[in-house]
Amino acid sequence: MWNYTEKVYEYFRNPRNVGEIENPDAVGEVGSIICGDALKLTLKVEKGTEKILDAKFKTFGCASAIASSSALTEMIKGKTLADASKITNQHIVEFLGGLPSEKMHCSVMGMEALEAAIKSYKGGKQEKVIIGAGERIVCKCFSVTEAKILKAIKENKLHTVEEVTNFTKAGGGCRQCVGEIEKILKDYWAEAEHKSFEKMTVVEKIKMLEKVLSEDINPKLKADGGWIELVDVRGKTVVLRFLGMCVGCPSSSATLKNVVEKEFRERIDPTLEVEAQ
Ligand code: FES
Repeated sequence: MWNYTEKVYEYFRNPRNVGEIENPDAVGEVGSIICGDALKLTLKVEKGTEKILDAKFKTFGCASAIASSSALTEMIKGKTLADASKITNQHIVEFLGGLPSEKMHCSVMGMEALEAAIKSYKGGKQEKVIIGAGERIVCKCFSVTEAKILKAIKENKLHTVEEVTNFTKAGGGCRQCVGEIEKILKDYWAEAEHKSFEKMTVVEKIKMLEKVLSEDINPKLKADGGWIELVDVRGKTVVLRFLGMCVGCPSSSATLKNVVEKEFRERIDPTLEVEAQ
């Protein structure tokens, strides 16, 4: 017996927005009846504002699939497509107050149906958009692509094959793909940890900071006759010196935060701080 929250029970027993919109502006279909889960999401979208006026779903799935799909329709109604596109499976899980770990793939299916619906709207199509079509399939039993596995690992910080199965179903059948999933996990975390600023040697840190300075930051500043050089690295604080036209520039502190720190955080580590010498 799964341990469901009250909200999951409520959305399963009294699902909101069940059905199909006539002449929808967007349609997203994911999953397959063969796998045991399928979801069709239809949307009515206001022209011009791109606001979602109505959303309905039909699903062939378990209590969690019904609750997740229903929750999703409630969450997106009234939002613009741009805002709705920021909804992840974690948001659906939070809305429901949690899902059993083995049922997390139901929330992923909701997110994918929304992604497919938005794609269909942008492409002006109302036919089935297959997420991951043409990509490499890792799990043949459930047609799960490498990209889908990587996305689930990254967004939900998954570390084990069992977790990947809970979120994507990959590995939940004949298990022939388990070795490949293990490799994807190992490679992803090796790469992610390599990028961790804290784990770099001093030389690696300097090289990385210099690279971002020369490739991304200084070309922008040089257009105005100035540039920046690296002076020191103290823990997570990067000390820099302004040169050229940047010296004494009244907007240098704004440049430091809005251009330099922002770039370092995006490219290297989101916790980096910068200061000028
Ligand atoms: S190929 Fe993945 S479980 Fe069968």
